[in-house]
Amino acid sequence: MILEPVSAPPLTYADILPPGAARSPEDHLLIAGCDTVELARSYGTPLYVYDENCLRKACGEFKTAFAKRYPETDIVYAGKAYMGVALLRLLAEQGLGLDVVSGGELAIAMAAGFPAERIFFHGNNKSRGELEEALTAGVGHIVIDNFLEIRLLEEIALARSLRQPALIRISPGVDPHTHVKTTTGITDTKFGFTLEGGQALEAVRQVLATPSIELAGFHFHLGSPVFSTTPYTEAIGVAAKFAGEVKDQYGFEGSRFSPGGGFAIRYTEEDEPPTIDEYAESITAALRADWAGRGLALPRLSVEPGRAIVGRAGVALYTVGAEKQVTGLRRYVSVDGGMTDNIRPALYDSRYVALLANRTGQNEQVVTIAGKFCESGDILIRDASIDDPVAGDVLAVPASGAYGLAMASNYNSATRPAVVFVRDGEARLVRRRETYDDLLSLEVAGTGEV
Ligand code: LLP
Repeated sequence: MILEPVSAPPLTYADILPPGAARSPEDHLLIAGCDTVELARSYGTPLYVYDENCLRKACGEFKTAFAKRYPETDIVYAGKAYMGVALLRLLAEQGLGLDVVSGGELAIAMAAGFPAERIFFHGNNKSRGELEEALTAGVGHIVIDNFLEIRLLEEIALARSLRQPALIRISPGVDPHTHVKTTTGITDTKFGFTLEGGQALEAVRQVLATPSIELAGFHFHLGSPVFSTTPYTEAIGVAAKFAGEVKDQYGFEGSRFSPGGGFAIRYTEEDEPPTIDEYAESITAALRADWAGRGLALPRLSVEPGRAIVGRAGVALYTVGAEKQVTGLRRYVSVDGGMTDNIRPALYDSRYVALLANRTGQNEQVVTIAGKFCESGDILIRDASIDDPVAGDVLAVPASGAYGLAMASNYNSATRPAVVFVRDGEARLVRRRETYDDLLSLEVAGTGEV
């Protein structure tokens, strides 16, 4: 008898999962050669699996796309998308910079040994303590967001006899047409100095008159995710006009410019984000043309991708549990995670796809994947097309690497998931699952008898 060679079944969502994901001959989902069903067994679920090569590939794509068009570019990872020591070490090795927005993010960066001079400290209400921590750490740039910050930074830098490099954040008044909760560059926003009414010009005047602050240039961030390159082009035009006014008025020309982050990724088959090359082309072409058009010297460029570095690399694994059929309406299938490890669907109506990790199945169904937390809004995917899930199946949600864990909470006293990095068939635990002891560890009232 001739045995048929065992061939692996085809993989769905191959261009949303990390590149190289596959199905094994026993029909399990493989990420970087690691069997996700085994990972779920070994580390429990919910589990966040990051493909290291996919992270490196994203860094490489950004570096190449910008370097070939505009060699004076720094790729600065926006840590808010996902922070962790292992990740930061990998990104530091890749030569990336880092955007932090809090003392907490800075502390993690320092613990990871991230080079402080490559750090940009953002935020619309940095405290005196945070600014002191930043200057103690020696961060490369503070991104000044408001007038109070100019005074605080002046005092702190003066006390240390420092001249602290800084960018000024402007709000260009350009709508990136993304979710209203993640739109930042419009005029009605809490971030940055408004151009209209001369607020941003006044900020420049004040900073230039402050010897303990060295103005390096300007920054804006439009929103996230931005599924088109047009808002960048438009806002760069606005920034160039402003930079021209600054030159005319104060004779100052910035040496650095940052159009922020916001680069979109694919979450579903309907999403068609621009490629990294397309973003790079639009940004660098606009920068060259608009700066030259106003007779300005070309600045060093920094771009701040968060989602586009970590989003595709991360796959969330859940175990399927209870289900409920609402006759004629909907089939709810619950998993062991939900809004505490991924609040994006509840907060922004974000869409994801899902597939079974432990089998392909033959019977595609439309089901609603629900989380396990006590809110009706705790729905991970409404109307997911998936092969008939049953209790015990392992469910994989691709494109979960950005703003899932980063926004995770202990709501319902949930213990936050473990994180595993995978590469060439090897897995390493980089963050353990939280325990009940972790939940109790901050209770200073003590535990035991009342
Ligand atoms: N730079 C600045 C100043 C930012 O505020 C942000 C994101 C980024 C860079 C990075 O944007 P990215 O490349 O990751 O799109 N929680 C929301 C996203 C909020 C983003 C806030 N700022 C979400 O889950 O979609």
